[in-house]
Amino acid sequence: MTRTIQNPLRDERDKRLPTIAGPCGLVIFGVTGDLSRKKLMPAIYDLANRGLLPPGFSLVGFARRDWADQDFSKVVHDAVKQYARTPFRESVWDRLAEGCRFVQGAFDDDGAFDNLCTTINDLDQIRGTAGNHAFYLSIPPAAFPVVIKQLARTGLAKPGADQWRRVVIEKPFGHDLASAKQLNKIVNDVFPEESVFRIDHYLGKETVQNILALRFANQLFEPIWNGNYVDHIQITMAEDIGLGGRAGYYDGIGAARDVIQNHLLQLLALVTMEEPVSFEPRAVRAEKAKVLAATTPVEPFAETTARGQYTGGWQGGQKVPGLLQEEGFAKDSITETFAAITLAVETRRWAGVPFYLRTGKRLGRRVTEIAVVFKRAPHLPFDATATEELGQNALVFRVQPDEGVTMRFGSKVPGSTMEVRDVSMDFSYGHSFTESSPEAYERLILDMLLGEPSLFPMNDEVERSWEILDPIIKAWRSSGRPEPYQAGTWGPDSATRMLSRTGRHWRRP
Ligand SMILES: NC(=O)c1ccc[n+]([C@@H]2O[C@H](COP(=O)([O-])OP(=O)(O)OC[C@H]3O[C@@H](n4cnc5c(N)ncnc54)[C@H](OP(=O)(O)O)[C@@H]3O)[C@@H](O)[C@H]2O)c1
Repeated sequence: MTRTIQNPLRDERDKRLPTIAGPCGLVIFGVTGDLSRKKLMPAIYDLANRGLLPPGFSLVGFARRDWADQDFSKVVHDAVKQYARTPFRESVWDRLAEGCRFVQGAFDDDGAFDNLCTTINDLDQIRGTAGNHAFYLSIPPAAFPVVIKQLARTGLAKPGADQWRRVVIEKPFGHDLASAKQLNKIVNDVFPEESVFRIDHYLGKETVQNILALRFANQLFEPIWNGNYVDHIQITMAEDIGLGGRAGYYDGIGAARDVIQNHLLQLLALVTMEEPVSFEPRAVRAEKAKVLAATTPVEPFAETTARGQYTGGWQGGQKVPGLLQEEGFAKDSITETFAAITLAVETRRWAGVPFYLRTGKRLGRRVTEIAVVFKRAPHLPFDATATEELGQNALVFRVQPDEGVTMRFGSKVPGSTMEVRDVSMDFSYGHSFTESSPEAYERLILDMLLGEPSLFPMNDEVERSWEILDPIIKAWRSSGRPEPYQAGTWGPDSATRMLSRTGRHWRRP
């Protein structure tokens, strides 16, 4: 007789079927902000349009302006019409609008939070939200503690029997290890870790989830996914926009804290982690945590990192100002708008492979990609001139804007002589699949309402990421001003030197 032994970490449900969230409501703090208008409200409508929200779903906005429920509905309506991914349908909108409520108040206003309590209790009675509520903190990070305290004071953080309460936090999760620990403590004193959902919207992107599919569903890649074959890995998030209008958030924070600590280190973890025993949250998070624990910055930082600040220049045919001329930035600001670092992953798989991470504003193009660059073939049985234009093989995950995967390899140039040159083979989401990819926020909000935590970084991952980055930022503090680079270029010269020193170069995406 045979016996099937169940893997306790494997869930055998058919995950292809769409799962609809059970009865629940969502409260958005900071509902008048940019993020809420451009991403959150449209994502909620798109989920409703796809039939993935429960019939009695309720959306409560909390802000300082003196709005009635109808004013709030109009704001949601306009945001949805302007930014939603899926077509506008009156019937879907009407159903969603019935569940929209607005509570006026500032975060330190006890009365406003008492009103919020009443509103939520009413919704449970009228809309059947069953006591299940999520609180989305789309607010300046300095306001996290006061809102969390209010949720504790009013009892809103505490679910009754068979109910849930969850909190959603937007990055930045602190600005260094000490502040991240402090924030985690404030949050975890009120909400247990399984009820905390930290949003790193990169993890909601299809291409990012495809990293694990490509690596672990195929036989082709994993055997060569190690230091025997991989020369180095480059992770780039480049933006062409400047920082006009964002001084309040960005000045004093800079590119490394804004992007490397969260998005780029999460991408690194997915590219380097070992195969999880299943795709259950516990299993995936354990592998990510393991590989981040083995990740360390490479010294000396004067040679292995680069830090820059954009100056005026031309971009897309337009003259653009430098950071120091942007409104709101201190005239002597030393905030970096470009950061590049070198990391090592000290495991048997990755020993000796450098990982180069870079991000910047006002660079040549908006692009995010992960390039796995392979070693050269150990022997080339061609004339030296035949391979002059042959580079290194590379597998590139294109995260945005043109989502897909590119493989680069050498191929014979047509003609009577043997000449080999680099060519590319592309997979593009847009061409291979008819359905359009959901927006990252659609996926993440739905997962949060379902209580599915795989795509949300945990407190220990966040703290470990700061441990990796803190020594570099500390060294930069004593190294003077960031190096200037002209808007529209690919960053400061020190970034080029960082790689050329080892005979390598950055890709020009
Ligand atoms: N924008 C993005 O694309 C983006 C991307 C990633 C992460 N984030 C993060 O997401 C969060 C929100 O970003 P955002 O760009 O939407 O910010 P924002 O445009 O500055 O909006 C902030 C919101 O918070 C409210 N607020 C501030 N202080 C308040 C107080 N004392 N009492 C009541 N309401 C208060 C504001 O309401 P009033 O209208 O009353 O001022 C506004 O609705 C931030 O943590 C940010 O770092 C944003």
